[in-house]
This record gives sequence, C-alpha cells and structure tokens, in this order.
Amino acid sequence: MKKSRDVIVIAGLAFLLARCVNDKTTEITPTVKNNVSFQLDIQPIFNQECIMCHRPMMGVAPDLTNGHAYESLINREGSIMPGDSGGSELMDMLHGGGDNPMPPGTKISPMKIALIAKWIDEGAKNN
Ligand code: HEC
Repeated sequence: MKKSRDVIVIAGLAFLLARCVNDKTTEITPTVKNNVSFQLDIQPIFNQECIMCHRPMMGVAPDLTNGHAYESLINREGSIMPGDSGGSELMDMLHGGGDNPMPPGTKISPMKIALIAKWIDEGAKNN
C-alpha cells in the first residue's frame, strides 16, 4: 500500500518536473553561433522582414536596404548600442515593446531576434 503511494508521488513529481523543463524550453533564447556577420546574417533578415517598408521608395526611415542599413542604424541615436543589446532600442522594438514595435503588428522569429542581439553584443560590426 505504502509502496504504491510512493509511486504515485514520484510520478507526480516527475510530471511537475517535466512541465517545468518544458516551460523553460519555450522561453529560452535560442543559442546562436559566434561571429555573426552583418552582411551574411543580419542584412538578409532586414531584406526578408523590413525593407518592404524601410526603403527609400516608401519614405520610412531608417533605410534598411543593402548597402545603407548599417549606416542608417548605427547613426540613429539609441537604436544600437554596440556591445549592449539590452540597452539598444532596436531590441525593444523587435521584442514588441515601446512605442514602435517592429515589424508593426507582428514579430520576427526568436532565432532572428537572437541573431540580431548577438550581432550587437559582439560589437555591432560592419562585417
Ligand atoms: C509594415 C511596415 C514596416 C515593417 C515591415 C517594418 N517597419 Fe520599422 N517602421 C515602420 C514605420 C511606419 C516607422 C515609423 C514609425 C514612426 O515614426 O512612428 C518605422 C520605424 C522604425 C524605426 C525607427 C523608430 C524610431 O524610434 O524612430 C526602426 C529602428 C525600425 N522601424 C526598424 C525596423 C526593423 C528592424 C524592421 C524589420 C525587423 C522593421 N522596422 C519592419 C514600418 C515598418
């Protein structure tokens, strides 16, 4: 009798533990590689997610098109703090916070957000 109760308790604990582990994995920031390249990793994200609005023809600043994105972002006060993704306004926007969530009304994938954060933390280089 006592044994079967122990089994139930253990099963219950295992269930709770599994749920905790599960909850964690859904919130964890995806791990991304080191040495993120602006040109190879970040610009393609802008091309897919941003330039339909952020290009000269649309008149929406900053210009995020190839060859212009780096300069426009780095020169925009507060948008990007090299080495400090947490202090960069762009990250708040991508997380859907602040006055200007970007893209408006939706979010890019956690993997893309993590790549941009990593690129900033690695110094926001024009590499
Ligand atoms: C559907 C169109 C659209 C898309 C897609 C979009 N944006 Fe924007 N973005 C805007 C508009 C419009 C503004 C100007 C908002 C304002 O000035 O109030 C803006 C403003 C910004 C600003 C400047 C905010 C400021 O404080 O002045 C940044 C930085 C930005 N967007 C980054 C991005 C990035 C990065 C992406 C892609 C991940 C993106 N946007 C996707 C429409 C868009």
